[in-house]
Amino acid sequence: MGSMLARSAALSIATAGALVMIAASGRTRDVPLPGPGPRPRVEPIAGLDDATDAGCERCHAEIAAEQAGSLHRSAWTNDYFARAYALEPAPFCRKCHAPGADPAREPSLAEKHAGVGCTSCHVAGDAVVGARGAAAREGGHAVLGDPRLATAAACGGCHQFSFPGPPGAATGPMQDTLGEHARSIGAATPCQQCHMPEVQGAGGATHRSHAFQVQGDRAMLGRAVTVTRASLDRGLVRVTLAPGAIGHAFPTGDLFRRVEVRAYPVDSAGRRLAAGSVAVLERTFSATPVGHDALVQVERSDTRLAAATSSDPASREITLVVPATTRRAHYAIVWQRLSPTLAARLGLTMHDQETLVIEGDVSR
Ligand code: HEC
Ligand code: HEC
Ligand code: HEC
Ligand code: HEC
Ligand code: HEC
Repeated sequence: MGSMLARSAALSIATAGALVMIAASGRTRDVPLPGPGPRPRVEPIAGLDDATDAGCERCHAEIAAEQAGSLHRSAWTNDYFARAYALEPAPFCRKCHAPGADPAREPSLAEKHAGVGCTSCHVAGDAVVGARGAAAREGGHAVLGDPRLATAAACGGCHQFSFPGPPGAATGPMQDTLGEHARSIGAATPCQQCHMPEVQGAGGATHRSHAFQVQGDRAMLGRAVTVTRASLDRGLVRVTLAPGAIGHAFPTGDLFRRVEVRAYPVDSAGRRLAAGSVAVLERTFSATPVGHDALVQVERSDTRLAAATSSDPASREITLVVPATTRRAHYAIVWQRLSPTLAARLGLTMHDQETLVIEGDVSR
Protein backbone atom coordinates (compact mmCIF):
# COMPACT_ATOMS: atom_id res chain seq x y z
CA MET A 1 0.00 0.00 0.00
CA GLY A 2 1.45 3.39 -0.96
CA SER A 3 2.06 5.85 1.85
CA MET A 4 -0.20 8.33 0.08
CA LEU A 5 -3.17 6.05 0.67
CA ALA A 6 -2.30 5.13 4.22
CA ARG A 7 -4.55 6.85 6.70
CA SER A 8 -3.19 5.04 9.74
CA ALA A 9 -2.90 1.84 11.76
CA ALA A 10 -4.38 1.80 15.25
CA LEU A 11 -6.17 4.47 17.18
CA SER A 12 -7.98 4.76 20.44
CA ILE A 13 -10.19 7.63 21.34
CA ALA A 14 -11.37 8.37 24.84
CA THR A 15 -15.02 9.34 24.89
CA ALA A 16 -15.31 11.87 27.64
CA GLY A 17 -18.17 11.34 30.02
CA ALA A 18 -20.06 14.00 31.92
CA LEU A 19 -22.22 13.94 34.96
CA VAL A 20 -25.72 14.74 33.81
CA MET A 21 -28.40 15.80 36.26
CA ILE A 22 -31.63 13.85 35.93
CA ALA A 23 -34.15 16.62 36.42
CA ALA A 24 -37.00 14.63 37.92
CA SER A 25 -35.02 12.75 40.54
CA GLY A 26 -32.18 15.18 41.28
CA ARG A 27 -29.71 12.30 40.76
CA THR A 28 -26.69 12.54 38.45
CA ARG A 29 -25.20 9.94 36.12
CA ASP A 30 -22.27 9.60 33.77
CA VAL A 31 -23.16 9.92 30.09
CA PRO A 32 -20.65 9.39 27.28
CA LEU A 33 -20.83 11.68 24.25
CA PRO A 34 -21.59 10.38 20.75
CA GLY A 35 -18.47 8.89 19.28
CA PRO A 36 -16.67 5.87 17.90
CA GLY A 37 -17.80 2.34 18.71
CA PRO A 38 -18.15 0.06 20.46
CA ARG A 39 -20.94 1.71 22.45
CA PRO A 40 -21.98 -0.28 25.50
CA ARG A 41 -25.73 -0.81 25.86
CA VAL A 42 -27.72 -1.86 28.88
CA GLU A 43 -31.07 -3.45 27.94
CA PRO A 44 -33.85 -2.51 28.12
CA ILE A 45 -33.13 0.98 26.78
CA ALA A 46 -35.61 3.63 27.93
CA GLY A 47 -38.19 0.86 28.27
CA LEU A 48 -38.34 0.39 24.46
CA ASP A 49 -39.01 -3.08 22.99
CA ASP A 50 -36.88 -2.39 19.94
CA ALA A 51 -34.11 0.13 20.62
CA THR A 52 -32.24 -0.64 17.38
CA ASP A 53 -31.68 1.90 14.59
CA ALA A 54 -34.57 0.30 12.70
CA GLY A 55 -36.77 0.66 15.80
CA CYS A 56 -35.98 4.38 16.19
CA GLU A 57 -36.65 4.90 12.49
CA ARG A 58 -40.16 3.42 12.67
CA CYS A 59 -41.37 6.06 15.15
CA HIS A 60 -39.22 8.99 13.93
CA ALA A 61 -40.01 8.66 10.23
CA GLU A 62 -39.19 12.22 9.11
CA ILE A 63 -35.79 12.28 10.79
CA ALA A 64 -35.16 8.76 9.51
CA ALA A 65 -35.89 9.86 5.92
CA GLU A 66 -33.42 12.75 6.24
CA GLN A 67 -30.78 10.50 7.76
CA ALA A 68 -31.28 7.86 5.05
CA GLY A 69 -29.87 10.25 2.43
CA SER A 70 -26.90 11.36 4.50
CA LEU A 71 -23.27 10.29 4.44
CA HIS A 72 -23.73 9.32 8.08
CA ARG A 73 -26.04 6.57 6.83
CA SER A 74 -23.70 5.57 3.99
CA ALA A 75 -20.52 6.00 6.07
CA TRP A 76 -19.68 2.37 5.29
CA THR A 77 -21.36 1.78 1.95
CA ASN A 78 -20.32 4.87 -0.06
CA ASP A 79 -18.06 4.12 -3.02
CA TYR A 80 -15.06 6.08 -1.80
CA PHE A 81 -14.96 4.63 1.72
CA ALA A 82 -15.54 1.10 0.36
CA ARG A 83 -12.50 1.37 -1.92
CA ALA A 84 -10.28 3.04 0.68
CA TYR A 85 -11.21 0.43 3.30
CA ALA A 86 -10.51 -2.43 0.88
CA LEU A 87 -6.90 -1.19 0.72
CA GLU A 88 -6.60 -0.65 4.46
CA PRO A 89 -9.13 -2.84 6.31
CA ALA A 90 -8.12 -1.71 9.82
CA PRO A 91 -10.31 -2.30 12.90
CA PHE A 92 -9.99 1.36 13.79
CA CYS A 93 -11.78 2.45 10.58
CA ARG A 94 -14.80 0.46 11.78
CA LYS A 95 -15.01 2.45 15.02
CA CYS A 96 -16.24 5.54 13.17
CA HIS A 97 -17.59 4.22 9.87
CA ALA A 98 -19.65 1.42 11.50
CA PRO A 99 -19.83 2.66 15.11
CA GLY A 100 -22.77 0.37 15.92
CA ALA A 101 -20.59 -2.71 15.35
CA ASP A 102 -17.93 -4.45 17.40
CA PRO A 103 -14.69 -3.13 15.82
CA ALA A 104 -12.93 -6.43 16.53
CA ARG A 105 -14.71 -8.07 13.56
CA GLU A 106 -16.09 -7.17 10.14
CA PRO A 107 -19.49 -5.50 10.55
CA SER A 108 -22.59 -7.50 9.62
CA LEU A 109 -24.56 -6.47 6.55
CA ALA A 110 -27.10 -4.66 8.77
CA GLU A 111 -24.34 -2.80 10.64
CA LYS A 112 -22.73 -1.76 7.35
CA HIS A 113 -26.02 -0.35 6.12
CA ALA A 114 -26.75 1.42 9.43
CA GLY A 115 -23.50 3.42 9.19
CA VAL A 116 -23.55 6.18 11.80
CA GLY A 117 -27.07 5.38 12.98
CA CYS A 118 -29.49 6.86 15.52
CA THR A 119 -28.16 4.75 18.37
CA SER A 120 -24.54 5.84 17.79
CA CYS A 121 -25.49 9.41 18.70
CA HIS A 122 -28.52 8.91 20.97
CA VAL A 123 -28.09 5.75 23.03
CA ALA A 124 -25.81 5.71 26.07
CA GLY A 125 -26.06 2.85 28.54
CA ASP A 126 -29.79 2.26 29.10
CA ALA A 127 -30.97 5.71 28.01
CA VAL A 128 -32.08 7.57 24.92
CA VAL A 129 -30.14 10.84 25.17
CA GLY A 130 -31.32 14.15 23.68
CA ALA A 131 -30.23 17.76 24.01
CA ARG A 132 -33.05 18.21 26.53
CA GLY A 133 -34.59 15.70 28.86
CA ALA A 134 -38.22 14.62 28.94
CA ALA A 135 -40.30 12.18 30.94
CA ALA A 136 -41.86 9.24 29.09
CA ARG A 137 -44.98 10.24 27.18
CA GLU A 138 -47.80 8.20 25.65
CA GLY A 139 -46.38 6.45 22.59
CA GLY A 140 -42.86 7.60 23.40
CA HIS A 141 -40.08 7.06 25.93
CA ALA A 142 -38.07 8.95 28.51
CA VAL A 143 -35.22 11.12 27.18
CA LEU A 144 -32.12 11.79 29.25
CA GLY A 145 -31.07 15.40 28.69
CA ASP A 146 -27.43 16.17 27.93
CA PRO A 147 -27.05 19.81 26.81
CA ARG A 148 -23.68 18.97 25.26
CA LEU A 149 -25.64 17.39 22.40
CA ALA A 150 -26.34 20.94 21.21
CA THR A 151 -22.61 21.79 21.09
CA ALA A 152 -19.50 20.87 19.08
CA ALA A 153 -18.73 18.21 21.72
CA ALA A 154 -21.48 16.06 20.15
CA CYS A 155 -19.41 15.88 16.94
CA GLY A 156 -15.86 15.81 18.26
CA GLY A 157 -15.64 12.11 19.07
CA CYS A 158 -15.54 11.34 15.33
CA HIS A 159 -14.67 14.67 13.67
CA GLN A 160 -11.47 15.43 15.58
CA PHE A 161 -8.68 12.85 15.82
CA SER A 162 -4.95 12.39 15.47
CA PHE A 163 -2.86 10.16 13.25
CA PRO A 164 -2.05 6.93 15.00
CA GLY A 165 1.53 6.29 16.00
CA PRO A 166 3.60 4.11 18.29
CA PRO A 167 2.74 4.38 22.00
CA GLY A 168 3.87 7.66 23.47
CA ALA A 169 4.53 9.38 20.12
CA ALA A 170 2.76 12.70 19.68
CA THR A 171 1.04 12.84 16.29
CA GLY A 172 -0.73 15.68 14.51
CA PRO A 173 -4.41 15.84 13.61
CA MET A 174 -5.72 13.64 10.79
CA GLN A 175 -8.95 15.64 10.95
CA ASP A 176 -8.96 18.96 12.79
CA THR A 177 -12.47 20.33 12.29
CA LEU A 178 -13.09 21.01 15.98
CA GLY A 179 -9.68 22.59 16.41
CA GLU A 180 -10.28 24.84 13.39
CA HIS A 181 -13.70 25.75 14.79
CA ALA A 182 -12.38 26.46 18.30
CA ARG A 183 -9.71 28.82 16.92
CA SER A 184 -12.11 30.63 14.58
CA ILE A 185 -14.23 33.71 15.03
CA GLY A 186 -17.25 31.38 14.78
CA ALA A 187 -16.29 29.29 17.82
CA ALA A 188 -19.46 30.34 19.62
CA THR A 189 -21.65 29.10 16.73
CA PRO A 190 -22.34 25.42 17.30
CA CYS A 191 -21.85 22.98 14.40
CA GLN A 192 -25.58 22.18 14.65
CA GLN A 193 -26.60 25.71 13.66
CA CYS A 194 -25.13 25.22 10.16
CA HIS A 195 -25.29 21.42 9.82
CA MET A 196 -28.61 20.68 11.58
CA PRO A 197 -30.83 23.64 10.64
CA GLU A 198 -34.40 23.79 12.00
CA VAL A 199 -36.80 22.42 9.38
CA GLN A 200 -40.57 22.11 9.42
CA GLY A 201 -42.11 18.64 9.41
CA ALA A 202 -45.38 17.60 7.76
CA GLY A 203 -47.34 18.29 10.95
CA GLY A 204 -46.01 21.87 11.13
CA ALA A 205 -43.68 21.23 14.08
CA THR A 206 -40.00 21.98 13.60
CA HIS A 207 -37.06 19.72 14.30
CA ARG A 208 -33.34 19.78 13.57
CA SER A 209 -32.58 18.28 10.17
CA HIS A 210 -30.55 15.09 10.10
CA ALA A 211 -29.65 15.33 6.38
CA PHE A 212 -26.09 16.62 7.11
CA GLN A 213 -25.75 17.54 3.43
CA VAL A 214 -22.46 18.97 2.16
CA GLN A 215 -20.99 16.92 -0.69
CA GLY A 216 -22.55 17.70 -4.04
CA ASP A 217 -24.63 20.52 -2.50
CA ARG A 218 -23.52 23.64 -4.34
CA ALA A 219 -25.59 25.98 -2.15
CA MET A 220 -24.01 24.62 1.04
CA LEU A 221 -20.50 24.64 -0.42
CA GLY A 222 -21.16 28.14 -1.77
CA ARG A 223 -21.68 29.47 1.76
CA ALA A 224 -18.10 28.54 2.59
CA VAL A 225 -16.33 31.14 0.47
CA THR A 226 -16.75 34.44 -1.35
CA VAL A 227 -14.72 36.05 -4.13
CA THR A 228 -14.19 39.63 -2.96
CA ARG A 229 -12.10 40.72 -5.96
CA ALA A 230 -11.11 39.27 -9.33
CA SER A 231 -8.96 40.88 -12.04
CA LEU A 232 -6.88 40.15 -15.12
CA ASP A 233 -3.55 41.89 -15.54
CA ARG A 234 -0.96 41.02 -18.18
CA GLY A 235 -0.74 37.22 -17.94
CA LEU A 236 -2.08 37.05 -14.38
CA VAL A 237 -5.53 36.31 -13.02
CA ARG A 238 -5.89 37.42 -9.39
CA VAL A 239 -8.77 36.03 -7.33
CA THR A 240 -9.22 37.15 -3.73
CA LEU A 241 -11.00 34.60 -1.54
CA ALA A 242 -12.55 35.31 1.84
CA PRO A 243 -14.23 32.84 4.22
CA GLY A 244 -18.03 33.00 4.11
CA ALA A 245 -20.45 31.58 6.69
CA ILE A 246 -18.22 28.71 7.68
CA GLY A 247 -17.04 27.54 11.06
CA HIS A 248 -13.72 25.99 10.05
CA ALA A 249 -11.18 25.82 7.22
CA PHE A 250 -12.28 25.40 3.59
CA PRO A 251 -12.13 22.57 2.81
CA THR A 252 -12.31 20.79 6.18
CA GLY A 253 -12.74 17.18 7.29
CA ASP A 254 -11.10 14.28 5.51
CA LEU A 255 -7.34 14.66 5.03
CA PHE A 256 -7.53 14.25 1.24
CA ARG A 257 -10.14 16.98 0.61
CA ARG A 258 -9.01 19.73 -1.74
CA VAL A 259 -10.24 22.79 -3.61
CA GLU A 260 -8.92 23.80 -7.02
CA VAL A 261 -8.87 27.43 -8.14
CA ARG A 262 -8.58 27.33 -11.94
CA ALA A 263 -8.13 30.03 -14.59
CA TYR A 264 -7.81 29.83 -18.37
CA PRO A 265 -8.26 32.17 -21.36
CA VAL A 266 -11.66 32.24 -23.09
CA ASP A 267 -13.16 34.00 -26.11
CA SER A 268 -16.18 36.28 -25.87
CA ALA A 269 -18.49 33.24 -26.19
CA GLY A 270 -16.83 31.60 -23.18
CA ARG A 271 -14.96 28.93 -25.19
CA ARG A 272 -11.62 27.87 -23.75
CA LEU A 273 -8.73 29.15 -25.92
CA ALA A 274 -5.69 27.67 -24.20
CA ALA A 275 -4.50 25.95 -21.08
CA GLY A 276 -4.36 28.01 -17.92
CA SER A 277 -3.23 27.12 -14.45
CA VAL A 278 -4.50 25.75 -11.16
CA ALA A 279 -3.83 26.55 -7.50
CA VAL A 280 -4.75 23.86 -4.95
CA LEU A 281 -6.03 24.45 -1.42
CA GLU A 282 -5.12 21.27 0.49
CA ARG A 283 -3.12 19.66 3.25
CA THR A 284 -0.18 17.49 2.25
CA PHE A 285 1.43 14.73 4.29
CA SER A 286 4.36 12.39 4.17
CA ALA A 287 5.19 9.23 6.07
CA THR A 288 8.05 9.82 8.48
CA PRO A 289 9.98 7.09 10.34
CA VAL A 290 9.63 7.08 14.13
CA GLY A 291 11.86 4.82 16.22
CA HIS A 292 12.94 1.58 14.53
CA ASP A 293 9.99 0.33 12.55
CA ALA A 294 7.08 2.75 12.77
CA LEU A 295 5.88 5.24 10.17
CA VAL A 296 3.82 8.25 11.14
CA GLN A 297 2.02 10.63 8.79
CA VAL A 298 3.23 14.20 9.28
CA GLU A 299 1.58 17.28 7.78
CA ARG A 300 3.96 19.02 5.35
CA SER A 301 1.82 21.94 4.23
CA ASP A 302 -1.63 23.44 4.56
CA THR A 303 -2.74 25.79 1.77
CA ARG A 304 -6.47 25.65 2.60
CA LEU A 305 -8.46 28.82 3.26
CA ALA A 306 -8.29 29.10 7.05
CA ALA A 307 -11.30 30.19 9.08
CA ALA A 308 -11.33 33.85 10.07
CA THR A 309 -10.08 34.64 13.59
CA SER A 310 -10.56 37.78 15.69
CA SER A 311 -7.18 39.09 14.51
CA ASP A 312 -7.12 37.72 10.93
CA PRO A 313 -9.96 37.91 8.39
CA ALA A 314 -8.11 35.11 6.51
CA SER A 315 -8.78 36.69 3.13
CA ARG A 316 -6.23 35.61 0.52
CA GLU A 317 -5.24 36.53 -3.04
CA ILE A 318 -4.63 33.59 -5.37
CA THR A 319 -2.54 34.34 -8.46
CA LEU A 320 -2.93 32.21 -11.60
CA VAL A 321 -0.81 32.42 -14.73
CA VAL A 322 -2.47 32.66 -18.15
CA PRO A 323 -0.84 33.46 -21.55
CA ALA A 324 0.35 37.08 -21.63
CA THR A 325 -1.92 37.84 -24.62
CA THR A 326 -5.09 36.86 -22.72
CA ARG A 327 -7.82 39.54 -23.01
CA ARG A 328 -10.52 37.54 -21.23
CA ALA A 329 -10.23 34.69 -18.70
CA HIS A 330 -12.55 32.36 -16.84
CA TYR A 331 -11.95 31.34 -13.24
CA ALA A 332 -13.58 28.57 -11.22
CA ILE A 333 -13.46 27.34 -7.62
CA VAL A 334 -14.04 23.61 -7.53
CA TRP A 335 -14.47 21.45 -4.38
CA GLN A 336 -12.98 17.96 -4.73
CA ARG A 337 -13.59 14.92 -2.59
CA LEU A 338 -10.08 13.62 -3.33
CA SER A 339 -7.22 14.30 -5.73
CA PRO A 340 -7.36 13.15 -9.36
CA THR A 341 -4.31 10.94 -8.68
CA LEU A 342 -5.98 9.19 -5.76
CA ALA A 343 -9.26 8.89 -7.68
CA ALA A 344 -7.41 7.15 -10.53
CA ARG A 345 -5.76 4.74 -8.11
CA LEU A 346 -9.11 3.89 -6.53
CA GLY A 347 -10.87 3.57 -9.90
CA LEU A 348 -13.23 6.50 -9.26
CA THR A 349 -14.29 8.90 -12.01
CA MET A 350 -13.12 12.37 -10.98
CA HIS A 351 -16.09 14.04 -12.61
CA ASP A 352 -18.41 12.45 -10.01
CA GLN A 353 -16.23 13.56 -7.12
CA GLU A 354 -16.18 17.34 -7.62
CA THR A 355 -18.56 20.27 -7.34
CA LEU A 356 -18.26 23.68 -8.98
CA VAL A 357 -18.67 26.23 -6.19
CA ILE A 358 -18.09 29.66 -7.80
CA GLU A 359 -17.13 30.78 -11.31
CA GLY A 360 -16.71 34.08 -13.13
CA ASP A 361 -15.00 35.94 -15.95
CA VAL A 362 -12.42 38.71 -15.88
CA SER A 363 -11.17 40.82 -18.80
CA ARG A 364 -8.88 43.72 -19.61
C1 HEC B 1 -42.61 3.74 20.00
C2 HEC B 1 -42.20 4.90 19.26
C3 HEC B 1 -40.79 5.41 19.49
C4 HEC B 1 -39.62 4.71 19.41
C5 HEC B 1 -39.41 3.24 19.12
C6 HEC B 1 -38.57 5.68 19.61
N1 HEC B 1 -39.09 6.92 19.83
FE1 HEC B 1 -38.06 8.60 20.29
N2 HEC B 1 -39.76 9.59 20.71
C7 HEC B 1 -41.02 9.08 20.47
C8 HEC B 1 -41.99 10.12 20.83
C9 HEC B 1 -43.51 10.00 20.70
C10 HEC B 1 -41.24 11.21 21.36
C11 HEC B 1 -41.78 12.54 21.88
C12 HEC B 1 -42.28 13.40 20.75
C13 HEC B 1 -41.19 13.83 19.83
O1 HEC B 1 -40.40 14.70 20.21
O2 HEC B 1 -41.09 13.29 18.71
C14 HEC B 1 -39.85 10.85 21.24
C15 HEC B 1 -38.79 11.68 21.59
C16 HEC B 1 -37.46 11.44 21.25
C17 HEC B 1 -36.37 12.36 21.44
C18 HEC B 1 -36.48 13.75 22.05
C19 HEC B 1 -37.02 14.74 21.08
C20 HEC B 1 -36.98 16.17 21.61
O3 HEC B 1 -37.95 16.88 21.33
O4 HEC B 1 -36.02 16.56 22.26
C21 HEC B 1 -35.24 11.74 20.96
C22 HEC B 1 -33.83 12.32 20.92
C23 HEC B 1 -35.63 10.44 20.50
N3 HEC B 1 -36.99 10.29 20.70
C24 HEC B 1 -34.76 9.51 19.94
C25 HEC B 1 -35.10 8.18 19.75
C26 HEC B 1 -34.14 7.16 19.44
C27 HEC B 1 -32.67 7.38 19.24
C28 HEC B 1 -34.81 5.99 19.35
C29 HEC B 1 -34.26 4.58 19.12
C30 HEC B 1 -33.36 4.11 20.17
C31 HEC B 1 -36.21 6.29 19.59
N4 HEC B 1 -36.34 7.63 19.83
C32 HEC B 1 -37.23 5.36 19.58
C33 HEC B 1 -41.35 7.85 19.97
C34 HEC B 1 -40.45 6.80 19.78
C1 HEC C 1 -24.37 12.17 14.03
C2 HEC C 1 -25.15 12.14 15.24
C3 HEC C 1 -26.64 11.91 15.11
C4 HEC C 1 -27.27 10.91 14.45
C5 HEC C 1 -26.68 9.81 13.58
C6 HEC C 1 -28.68 11.06 14.75
N1 HEC C 1 -28.88 12.16 15.54
FE1 HEC C 1 -30.65 12.81 16.29
N2 HEC C 1 -29.73 14.47 17.01
C7 HEC C 1 -28.36 14.65 17.07
C8 HEC C 1 -28.09 15.89 17.76
C9 HEC C 1 -26.70 16.45 18.01
C10 HEC C 1 -29.34 16.43 18.15
C11 HEC C 1 -29.60 17.70 18.94
C12 HEC C 1 -29.44 18.92 18.12
C13 HEC C 1 -29.68 20.18 18.93
O1 HEC C 1 -30.69 20.24 19.65
O2 HEC C 1 -28.86 21.11 18.81
C14 HEC C 1 -30.35 15.50 17.65
C15 HEC C 1 -31.72 15.68 17.82
C16 HEC C 1 -32.67 14.67 17.61
C17 HEC C 1 -34.07 14.75 17.93
C18 HEC C 1 -34.77 15.98 18.46
C19 HEC C 1 -35.07 16.83 17.24
C20 HEC C 1 -35.61 18.21 17.53
O3 HEC C 1 -35.00 19.18 17.07
O4 HEC C 1 -36.66 18.29 18.15
C21 HEC C 1 -34.64 13.55 17.60
C22 HEC C 1 -36.11 13.16 17.75
C23 HEC C 1 -33.60 12.74 17.03
N3 HEC C 1 -32.42 13.45 17.04
C24 HEC C 1 -33.78 11.46 16.56
C25 HEC C 1 -32.84 10.78 15.77
C26 HEC C 1 -33.13 9.57 15.04
C27 HEC C 1 -34.46 8.85 15.02
C28 HEC C 1 -31.98 9.23 14.36
C29 HEC C 1 -31.77 8.10 13.37
C30 HEC C 1 -32.64 8.12 12.18
C31 HEC C 1 -30.98 10.22 14.72
N4 HEC C 1 -31.54 11.15 15.56
C32 HEC C 1 -29.66 10.21 14.29
C33 HEC C 1 -27.41 13.83 16.54
C34 HEC C 1 -27.65 12.71 15.78
C1 HEC D 1 -20.14 8.26 15.51
C2 HEC D 1 -19.27 9.11 14.69
C3 HEC D 1 -19.81 10.46 14.22
C4 HEC D 1 -20.40 11.46 14.97
C5 HEC D 1 -20.71 11.46 16.45
C6 HEC D 1 -20.65 12.55 14.06
N1 HEC D 1 -20.22 12.22 12.79
FE1 HEC D 1 -20.37 13.36 11.13
N2 HEC D 1 -19.53 11.87 10.03
C7 HEC D 1 -19.04 10.68 10.52
C8 HEC D 1 -18.47 9.91 9.45
C9 HEC D 1 -17.81 8.53 9.58
C10 HEC D 1 -18.64 10.67 8.27
C11 HEC D 1 -18.15 10.33 6.87
C12 HEC D 1 -18.95 9.32 6.19
C13 HEC D 1 -18.36 9.04 4.81
O1 HEC D 1 -18.51 9.91 3.95
O2 HEC D 1 -17.72 8.00 4.64
C14 HEC D 1 -19.32 11.89 8.68
C15 HEC D 1 -19.67 12.91 7.80
C16 HEC D 1 -20.20 14.14 8.18
C17 HEC D 1 -20.46 15.24 7.29
C18 HEC D 1 -20.21 15.25 5.79
C19 HEC D 1 -21.46 15.26 5.00
C20 HEC D 1 -21.23 15.52 3.54
O3 HEC D 1 -22.23 15.49 2.78
O4 HEC D 1 -20.11 15.78 3.14
C21 HEC D 1 -20.92 16.27 8.05
C22 HEC D 1 -21.32 17.66 7.59
C23 HEC D 1 -20.95 15.82 9.42
N3 HEC D 1 -20.52 14.51 9.46
C24 HEC D 1 -21.33 16.62 10.49
C25 HEC D 1 -21.44 16.15 11.79
C26 HEC D 1 -21.88 16.97 12.89
C27 HEC D 1 -22.27 18.43 12.78
C28 HEC D 1 -21.88 16.18 14.00
C29 HEC D 1 -22.30 16.53 15.40
C30 HEC D 1 -23.69 16.97 15.57
C31 HEC D 1 -21.42 14.85 13.59
N4 HEC D 1 -21.17 14.88 12.24
C32 HEC D 1 -21.24 13.76 14.44
C33 HEC D 1 -19.07 10.27 11.83
C34 HEC D 1 -19.68 10.96 12.87
C1 HEC E 1 -21.09 28.94 10.26
C2 HEC E 1 -21.49 27.68 9.67
C3 HEC E 1 -20.71 26.43 10.01
C4 HEC E 1 -20.33 25.97 11.25
C5 HEC E 1 -20.53 26.65 12.60
C6 HEC E 1 -19.71 24.69 11.04
N1 HEC E 1 -19.70 24.38 9.70
FE1 HEC E 1 -19.06 22.64 8.89
N2 HEC E 1 -19.38 23.40 7.02
C7 HEC E 1 -19.91 24.64 6.74
C8 HEC E 1 -19.86 24.87 5.31
C9 HEC E 1 -20.33 26.12 4.59
C10 HEC E 1 -19.27 23.70 4.74
C11 HEC E 1 -18.95 23.44 3.26
C12 HEC E 1 -17.51 23.78 2.95
C13 HEC E 1 -16.53 22.72 3.32
O1 HEC E 1 -16.74 21.55 2.97
O2 HEC E 1 -15.50 23.06 3.96
C14 HEC E 1 -19.01 22.79 5.84
C15 HEC E 1 -18.47 21.51 5.70
C16 HEC E 1 -18.32 20.60 6.74
C17 HEC E 1 -17.97 19.21 6.59
C18 HEC E 1 -17.87 18.49 5.28
C19 HEC E 1 -16.51 18.22 4.85
C20 HEC E 1 -16.48 17.37 3.62
O3 HEC E 1 -15.53 17.57 2.93
O4 HEC E 1 -17.33 16.50 3.38
C21 HEC E 1 -17.86 18.67 7.83
C22 HEC E 1 -17.50 17.25 8.18
C23 HEC E 1 -18.18 19.71 8.76
N3 HEC E 1 -18.46 20.87 8.08
C24 HEC E 1 -18.21 19.55 10.14
C25 HEC E 1 -18.42 20.58 11.04
C26 HEC E 1 -18.27 20.45 12.47
C27 HEC E 1 -17.94 19.17 13.19
C28 HEC E 1 -18.51 21.68 13.01
C29 HEC E 1 -18.41 22.11 14.45
C30 HEC E 1 -17.13 21.87 15.10
C31 HEC E 1 -18.85 22.57 11.91
N4 HEC E 1 -18.76 21.87 10.74
C32 HEC E 1 -19.19 23.91 12.05
C33 HEC E 1 -20.43 25.52 7.65
C34 HEC E 1 -20.28 25.42 9.03
C1 HEC F 1 -12.16 8.88 14.62
C2 HEC F 1 -13.12 8.57 13.56
C3 HEC F 1 -12.60 8.04 12.24
C4 HEC F 1 -11.74 7.02 12.00
C5 HEC F 1 -10.99 6.17 13.02
C6 HEC F 1 -11.67 6.87 10.56
N1 HEC F 1 -12.46 7.79 9.95
FE1 HEC F 1 -12.73 8.04 7.97
N2 HEC F 1 -13.85 9.71 8.32
C7 HEC F 1 -14.25 10.13 9.56
C8 HEC F 1 -15.07 11.32 9.41
C9 HEC F 1 -15.71 12.10 10.54
C10 HEC F 1 -15.12 11.58 8.03
C11 HEC F 1 -15.89 12.72 7.35
C12 HEC F 1 -15.05 13.92 7.09
C13 HEC F 1 -15.54 14.71 5.92
O1 HEC F 1 -16.70 14.59 5.52
O2 HEC F 1 -14.72 15.46 5.36
C14 HEC F 1 -14.34 10.54 7.37
C15 HEC F 1 -14.15 10.46 6.00
C16 HEC F 1 -13.52 9.41 5.37
C17 HEC F 1 -13.44 9.23 3.95
C18 HEC F 1 -14.05 10.15 2.92
C19 HEC F 1 -15.46 9.68 2.66
C20 HEC F 1 -16.26 10.54 1.71
O3 HEC F 1 -17.49 10.35 1.66
O4 HEC F 1 -15.69 11.36 1.01
C21 HEC F 1 -12.77 8.07 3.70
C22 HEC F 1 -12.46 7.46 2.35
C23 HEC F 1 -12.41 7.53 4.99
N3 HEC F 1 -12.87 8.37 5.98
C24 HEC F 1 -11.71 6.34 5.15
C25 HEC F 1 -11.27 5.87 6.39
C26 HEC F 1 -10.45 4.69 6.55
C27 HEC F 1 -9.99 3.78 5.41
C28 HEC F 1 -10.18 4.58 7.86
C29 HEC F 1 -9.29 3.56 8.54
C30 HEC F 1 -7.96 3.45 7.99
C31 HEC F 1 -10.89 5.69 8.54
N4 HEC F 1 -11.53 6.43 7.60
C32 HEC F 1 -10.88 5.92 9.91
C33 HEC F 1 -13.96 9.55 10.77
C34 HEC F 1 -13.07 8.52 10.94
